[in-house]
Amino acid sequence: MRKKASGICLLLIFCFGIIYASGQSGKLIGKNVCVFYPVNYNAGPHTPSFALFQEPKVIGNVPENWTFKPNFYSNNGKTIATLPIAKGTSLYGTGENTGSLIRNGKKVTLWNTDNYKYSIDSGTRLYQSHPWVLGVNRDGTAFGIIADNSWKQQIELTDSIRFISYGPAFRVIVIQRSSPQEVIRELANLTGKMEMPPLWALGYQQSRFSYVPDTRIKGIADTLRMKKLPCDVIWMDINYMERFKIFTFDKVQIPDPKAVNDYLHQKGFKSIWMIDPGVKAEKDYFVYESGSEGNHWVQNADHKEFNGKVWPGKCAFPDFTRPETRSWWSGLYKDFMATGIDGVWNDMNEPSVFDGPAGSMPENNWHRGGGDLQADVHLRYHNVYGMLMVKASREGILKVNPEKRPFILSRSGYLGSNRFAATWTGDNCATVEHMKMSIPMSLNLGLSGQPFSGPDMGGYSFNTSPELFGQWIAMGAFFPFMRGHAEKGTVNKEPWAFGTELEDVSRTALNRRYRLLPYFYTLFQEAAKTGMPVMRPVFFADPKDSTLRNEEQTFLLGDDLLIIPKWAVNPSLPKGTWRTISIAGENSSTDKYQSDVKLKGGAIIPLGKYIQNTTQYSTDSLTLIVSLDENGKASGSLYEDSGDGFQYKNGEYLISSFSAKQVGSVVKVEITASEGKLKPAKKRYKVVVVTNSGSVSSNWISKNSVSVKLPSE
Ligand code: NOJ
Repeated sequence: MRKKASGICLLLIFCFGIIYASGQSGKLIGKNVCVFYPVNYNAGPHTPSFALFQEPKVIGNVPENWTFKPNFYSNNGKTIATLPIAKGTSLYGTGENTGSLIRNGKKVTLWNTDNYKYSIDSGTRLYQSHPWVLGVNRDGTAFGIIADNSWKQQIELTDSIRFISYGPAFRVIVIQRSSPQEVIRELANLTGKMEMPPLWALGYQQSRFSYVPDTRIKGIADTLRMKKLPCDVIWMDINYMERFKIFTFDKVQIPDPKAVNDYLHQKGFKSIWMIDPGVKAEKDYFVYESGSEGNHWVQNADHKEFNGKVWPGKCAFPDFTRPETRSWWSGLYKDFMATGIDGVWNDMNEPSVFDGPAGSMPENNWHRGGGDLQADVHLRYHNVYGMLMVKASREGILKVNPEKRPFILSRSGYLGSNRFAATWTGDNCATVEHMKMSIPMSLNLGLSGQPFSGPDMGGYSFNTSPELFGQWIAMGAFFPFMRGHAEKGTVNKEPWAFGTELEDVSRTALNRRYRLLPYFYTLFQEAAKTGMPVMRPVFFADPKDSTLRNEEQTFLLGDDLLIIPKWAVNPSLPKGTWRTISIAGENSSTDKYQSDVKLKGGAIIPLGKYIQNTTQYSTDSLTLIVSLDENGKASGSLYEDSGDGFQYKNGEYLISSFSAKQVGSVVKVEITASEGKLKPAKKRYKVVVVTNSGSVSSNWISKNSVSVKLPSE
């Protein structure tokens, strides 16, 4: 137990409430990481932490010269922690947000909400909660603040950084580092990292609410292949179920789910099927019957089964705070996955309740907890409901397929849920505004610990115009998660649905993504290892440069690629050399749609072959694109493993390093195996050196050293 604080208590009387301002006690839990406790802290209602991957070890006292501390107090029944904002500080994070990348001046409510079209409360509360703020100081040094608190709360970033909670007083963790990147790495050390996804999850994914019947699913798959539009996954939304009953299949629409999955597999696709948390309260329905038998339902304030309406009508909701319920839920995946399902989509898990207060459950609903979780009200567990659900889903899927990396997409989330699932940004609209906003949305998710995200590409609600679709798919090719999805009743939004010009635009965008997969996969490995986001804000290129702090039309993919969508107007770009490259034969300077992609001076990136899906992925023929720095040097790397399974954890992977050096007019690129037990397969390389006046290529060479002669100026 921590020592009680020795803070001074101040009692201030205001017209509208009483504020008890109090001191705090703190401990050092890492290099320049401290945890601070309010004087009246009671661990029970906050233990175990949902955000933290494990309870941090105390390694000492707060350093004497540490001045950046929270002030804790309460006001009108709310518990509050504040920290000052120094002039010139730029704030980010706070999870999934509408609005700008920079969060200064914003107010966010952390109460996971099914926010169709982002229309409720002007989108200031969305599907996820991240009690987390990243700050970049004027000089480029940075800090991060975690409010370790699952209860309903608000973050206000107006005159100070303020976490306002509806629950008991909570602790706050403060990280201070020399750069925002360092803060993000420390965030990942504390809250945990994403597991390596299967390679196929990085491919293009085709979805719609809903592809039924089975012949339509097959038709979509066939058309993608016939038109040579690369794609890895077909998604099955709720209409595959029998009257929206989870873990069932509609006998008429999908008479043989295994046959559907087999068909998709034969064509090189994976399949993802939706599972919601709401269980139809219907007699003789096996999920409801077994759930009732096991007493698995969330209760109302009178400790009776709570019922609310979702797609199937009257539903009961699993109480995922109970270990027995999580294990029952995990078990439900056994027969389901046995039909050959590859991935699972956990939707509506805020949880969404159509006829409930604020679209969810009453705050005084009752969760019974168990194990190390206390029984408590929904107000405490609402924001982690989806996270607990996907944790249980993941365990169930892993049990069925222990040799495969699970892939789950979750709509709801909380700080740290990247440990269990990827995410997308919910029900956006087919508008230019929402297309543009998808960049800051995914960037802030990445800056809040969730590297694997993306929007419904093309826009979910409303019909999409050909122009919007073209702009969106061209840019969407560079998001970590790339899935086209559309609401029931809207026009078809598959890449061929907008005519042949847009079909060509889509094909080029998809070819660019697929050729970039070796680079993407290397970035995902970095994200899994260190927590660094795949998609990064432009200010990461130079955190000291204040002109980049609010740049949100463009973004970085890793450190080396700068993505500039065609619609970007006067973006603030990082200084230094960035050279435009061609990835799949496009010329972005004259193209109406394809984003400009610029390679940093000093970087080398690997491109793979043109493929239709990742079952064809191989790194035996790599094109290395080289952009030299002012010293005539460049470097890069490639991560490889089997693309699925867990052998990489036993060292069965390979990291190759590329280094280029110009001597006279010759650029020599050397490839060396630098890490991992995987034996390097025989490879051939083609080197393309991009210069300020064009590019020069080598032939294909089966050696680990390739030279290119530059033409004399
Ligand atoms: C809501 C989800 O956000 C959307 O993507 C999905 O299509 C519908 N639920 C139907 O399942």
